[in-house]
Amino acid sequence: MEQGYESKQSRGVSPTREAEELNALPPLALSAALTDRLPGASLRVSAPPYIPQIRLWLLNDLFEHRALAPEVINALMEEPPYWTFCWASGQVLAQHLLMHPESVRGRCVVDVGPGSGVVAIAAALAGAERVIACDLDANALLAVSANAELNGVQIEQSMDLGKCLADASVVTAADILYDRDNLELLESFRAAQQVLLADSRIRDLAAPGYSLFHRQASTTWPDLAESQEFNEVRLYEACSEPWPHKSV
Ligand SMILES: C[S@@+](CC[C@H](N)C(=O)[O-])C[C@H]1O[C@@H](n2cnc3c(N)ncnc32)[C@H](O)[C@@H]1O
Repeated sequence: MEQGYESKQSRGVSPTREAEELNALPPLALSAALTDRLPGASLRVSAPPYIPQIRLWLLNDLFEHRALAPEVINALMEEPPYWTFCWASGQVLAQHLLMHPESVRGRCVVDVGPGSGVVAIAAALAGAERVIACDLDANALLAVSANAELNGVQIEQSMDLGKCLADASVVTAADILYDRDNLELLESFRAAQQVLLADSRIRDLAAPGYSLFHRQASTTWPDLAESQEFNEVRLYEACSEPWPHKSV
């Protein structure tokens, strides 16, 4: 079994919960946000393989096996609904927070680019006092809200990064560097006591103040069958205090 994968049996999913999840209907606003972009697509509750404790409304992976109309593919490529996937880096960073809850316990965590909200949810489950999810995409914030409810946690939502960063003691960000313009945000994140950054896109990130402390294989879910190079996630930290959980 690949590292990080668990069978449904070993992660303790009861048949009742599984049946409930299969039959659950996504919030209407969330479905509408998807079908506006991708007519015919649907959402379902999914347990991302590297972080199966967390449940998320994600693109129904059965959808992938249907032939997509060219206009649907164009719509997907033009403005991808990132929040309908749980990205490789989000899974690794979420898993990391659950394994090291002391890094966020009692603190105010700002998750930049939450997409589905996987990292923000992990921070809340790990005991953060306050979690703020900050995304440019209003639909991502809808997804964060629905997914927070699914996992029984409270997460604030914002589109105002400057305001969020002013409150942050920990900044988390996973897979936001596909947009190279976001590289310039890394310096502003360092105003927080600690930054935890997960990335699968830039092989040798050389950002002042950031150091690599962990590498792990992961896959975006539903699986986009991305090139192997995007399946290695690197975790970086920048902090004003030494942090003990290093393991390259
Ligand atoms: C590839 S998704 C990653 C989502 C999630 N972190 C994960 O790992 O599953 C990137 C997300 O970052 C958001 N994003 C990109 N640039 C951003 C910025 N400058 N500020 C806030 N959100 C941003 C996008 O809208 C999208 O929701």
